[in-house]
Amino acid sequence: MPIQERCRILDHQKISATLFKLTLASSYISTHASPGQFVQIKCSGTNDPLLRRPISLHRWSAEHKTFELLYEVVGRGTELLTKYSVNEELDIIGPLGSGFTVDPTKKIHILVAGGMGVAPLRALAEAIKGTGGKAIYVLIGSRSKEAVFCESDFRKLTDQVVISTDDGSAGKKGFVSDILLSFLENELTTPNSELTTIYACGPNPMLKAIAEIAWQKKIDCQLSMEERMACGIGACKGCAIKTKGGFKMVCKDGPVFDAKEIVWN
Ligand SMILES: Cc1cc2nc3c(=O)[nH]c(=O)nc-3n(C[C@H](O)[C@H](O)[C@H](O)COP(=O)(O)OP(=O)(O)OC[C@H]3O[C@@H](n4cnc5c(N)ncnc54)[C@H](O)[C@@H]3O)c2cc1C
Ligand code: FES
Repeated sequence: MPIQERCRILDHQKISATLFKLTLASSYISTHASPGQFVQIKCSGTNDPLLRRPISLHRWSAEHKTFELLYEVVGRGTELLTKYSVNEELDIIGPLGSGFTVDPTKKIHILVAGGMGVAPLRALAEAIKGTGGKAIYVLIGSRSKEAVFCESDFRKLTDQVVISTDDGSAGKKGFVSDILLSFLENELTTPNSELTTIYACGPNPMLKAIAEIAWQKKIDCQLSMEERMACGIGACKGCAIKTKGGFKMVCKDGPVFDAKEIVWN
């Protein structure tokens, strides 16, 4: 169950021109989080902006009672967040939503990130690694070299990391969905669709392309869906998406859904 917690800032680092990492103290969120869940942050000390902003749980330590968030400055809320300093407190609700499920019978796990989609996949990679004896591959797609985040973290945790950029400035040139198809067909050493799961997080057009590949290759696939959110707890119906089981709320029923369930527009 999510709660509202005032979390003291332990560290706030600028990683690149637009990317920041926040480390926060928390007794509840750090001990109740699971990969793929998110928090809702109040980005100022006033009611402006009124709505909280959803940010994925990147990493946490139940032992040290801390958690980390990775956020990109895209608008007013995230810009206001950058003004907070170490020792100030942030008003946070979490952990929210339903995250990724790791099936212990699957042997091959392919994590696909588009842009800031890397944020929730770090904790997922750690969780899969913790189950032992699994092959973990990470495909990171970005606009350009400057927007490739977390590569070194994933290299420590996984068997292979493939980078792709839209402009070819790092790794392979092209969309990460095309790289996934080529990886499945040419590079996966022991391809076995029944023993494989794909997990993806990123912009919706990328997720749609990945869902089609997974369907075509008969591979289980979990997608972390992005929608603009208001309440974050299933009350306002603002984040509804169409699924085969009717409309579902990304904040409460997701953000992670089985790719086969999504009805794409
Ligand atoms: C479940 C979930 C987890 C997320 N995790 C992260 C994360 O770990 N790190 C991170 O940097 N961002 C994450 N986001 C996106 C983040 O919530 C938005 O970037 C943020 O709300 C923007 O707020 P803002 O006030 O700065 O920008 P706004 O002024 O609200 O918007 C600026 C621009 O960003 C776009 N935008 C805003 N919110 C979203 C959204 N939810 N989806 C797609 N586009 C949006 C707007 O269309 C607009 O173009 C996540 C979103 C969701 C739904
Ligand atoms: S954000 Fe209100 S129902 Fe999802």
